[in-house]
Amino acid sequence: MPATRRASGCSAPREPPGSAAILAASFVTLERGRLTRVAVLISGRGSNLLALIESIERGEVPAEIVLVVSNRAEAGGLAHARARAIPTLTADRSRYPKRVDRHQRILAALLAADVDLVVCAGFDEILRPEVVAELRGRMLNVHPSLLPAFGQTLHAQAEALAYGVKVTGCTVHIVTDDLDAGPIVVQRPVPVLEDDTVESLSARIVAEEHKALPDAVRLFAEGRLIVEGQRVRILPRSQGSAAERR
Ligand code: GRF
Repeated sequence: MPATRRASGCSAPREPPGSAAILAASFVTLERGRLTRVAVLISGRGSNLLALIESIERGEVPAEIVLVVSNRAEAGGLAHARARAIPTLTADRSRYPKRVDRHQRILAALLAADVDLVVCAGFDEILRPEVVAELRGRMLNVHPSLLPAFGQTLHAQAEALAYGVKVTGCTVHIVTDDLDAGPIVVQRPVPVLEDDTVESLSARIVAEEHKALPDAVRLFAEGRLIVEGQRVRILPRSQGSAAERR
């Protein structure tokens, strides 16, 4: 990663080239009758968290959010969890000044919550390798560009605007060791308009994230994601390994 760039999400080990196809959800023992247990990692306002909560409440995603983790005590998104009595953990720099301690605390909480899936939704730290190794194949990240364009940055929307692309969008991908380069699960395009500002473009991109993220979580929960190297194949609904659970 170039020194001038900042991370935009979490990372985890990449599959060795040529490895066998992996059913992402098969990393998890999806128990019959049990909803997929999801933890969401946030740093800010948590609009993606809210979109996922509301999709679950509407019955569109067969999952439950069992933990919300923030690395910032002031993150607005924590209120969405607290309003619904979803357990929260704040692992911020004042409590855990060392990144290794902070991330160990987060990992311990994720394991204690017995999570099937971890979603990085606006989480602004790169998780340590041992954390993501533990969660390999069951961690998703949402990024505000059509990856691989404008990855590895916290300013993807501004960079897209400055570059002059006519179309950008959002990506939900499986987290790997290569930052913002894991297998892509869902992408949604967003046209760049003539009079767009960073704010107006960001607002339209995040609106698409609010659809893409619940879609990706639903596909995972339904056992419909097959990872073949860098590609994710999406099984028809009838073939999802979790479909018989409901
Ligand atoms: C989103 O645009 C996400 O792609 C980026 O940070 C933003 C988080 O927004 N990584 P929110 O906190 O979910 O509202």
